[in-house]
Amino acid sequence: MDSTHPTAPVRLHSKWLRAAFLLLPVVAVVDYYAGYELQFSIFYLVSVYLATWFGGWGLGVLVALISVVLSLAGDLASGAVYKNELVPWWNCAIAISFYIVMVSVLHRLRMFQRQLEVRVRERTTALREEIQERKKLEQAVLEVSEREQRRIGHDLHDSLCQHLTSAALAGQVLSEKLHQKSVAESADSEQLVGLIESGIDLARSLARGLAPVELDMLGLTATLRELARTTSMRARLNCTLEMPEEVLLEDSEAVVHLYRIAQEAVNNAVRHSGGDRITISLQNTSQGVQMRVTDNGAGLPPEAARKSGMGLHIMRHRADMIGALCEVTGLERGTCVSVLVPTRTTTSAGAASI
Ligand SMILES: Nc1ncnc2c1ncn2[C@@H]1O[C@H](COP(=O)(O)OP(=O)(O)OP(=O)(O)O)[C@@H](O)[C@H]1O
Ligand SMILES: [Mg+2]
Repeated sequence: MDSTHPTAPVRLHSKWLRAAFLLLPVVAVVDYYAGYELQFSIFYLVSVYLATWFGGWGLGVLVALISVVLSLAGDLASGAVYKNELVPWWNCAIAISFYIVMVSVLHRLRMFQRQLEVRVRERTTALREEIQERKKLEQAVLEVSEREQRRIGHDLHDSLCQHLTSAALAGQVLSEKLHQKSVAESADSEQLVGLIESGIDLARSLARGLAPVELDMLGLTATLRELARTTSMRARLNCTLEMPEEVLLEDSEAVVHLYRIAQEAVNNAVRHSGGDRITISLQNTSQGVQMRVTDNGAGLPPEAARKSGMGLHIMRHRADMIGALCEVTGLERGTCVSVLVPTRTTTSAGAASI
């Protein structure tokens, strides 16, 4: 039977049982020298308690019987005289009843305590499994969203961009024809072609944001620069990438997560900060590669005042998955998202794609 089960036999703790049995002769000797008039039941009870708690019901009863015998023998040896010969037997019966009640109560308490321990252990295991399961689910959700973003990016590139390119070419041809015929509207058609070409650029950069092509470290730098450029253009603010020295990071998974964290941090800065400057910086530190996204906006509101979005949570989860440390802190003016990818996942070269 499983020893953790509440009804399993009590595991013997030899140290305490030895103490219970060693204490018996000591108490008996003191009981003898103290004389028959002084009661020593309470001291025998210590051995009974130890034997029951650490050895179970049977050992408790055995020690109780030995205690009664030793106590009676001690009283008789120290010269106890009884008017009626039934008195010592009566005393023994009372003592044994008392000890057995104590043994039963202690045994029940012990069983109850073991049941509680088993229940706590079961709950802890269930909780641990639940946390594990949740982590797996979160990872699956991230993977699905990653895959979906990539799919939309590819579709955008392969369908809308191609379609717009054809439209731009057709517009170009039309514009040239109009120009040859010296029609006044040829300038309008050229403007139309220009608009379609900007549309192509926009769709391409959207596609690249959703599905960056190659993400080795140089690719990450280029992709972050592209992120800064498109953010500046779309949000009409100043977003830049600062990289004072070459930064090397091989772990492909880390590169992907770092890029996604940067994307969310930049989006948050655009949507929530109200600032006009965002800086993405990448640098080597003694502990690893550090990426920081800072803005000069209103700063992070206190936790209670924040909306219950998913972004910050996912950022931390992504960092967790690559063993990185992610901190979102308020600055004197603005907010800083800092991610430190520790050195053990950083090496010298490599490539990854998402
Ligand atoms: N750079 C920032 N400046 C000011 N406030 C911020 C900044 N980043 C986050 N916050 C605050 O923290 C909140 C939570 O951000 P989070 O990214 O988790 O959610 P969200 O952006 O509101 O929604 P989601 O990311 O799910 O689309 C935001 O609603 C905002 O109040
Ligand atoms: Mg967000």
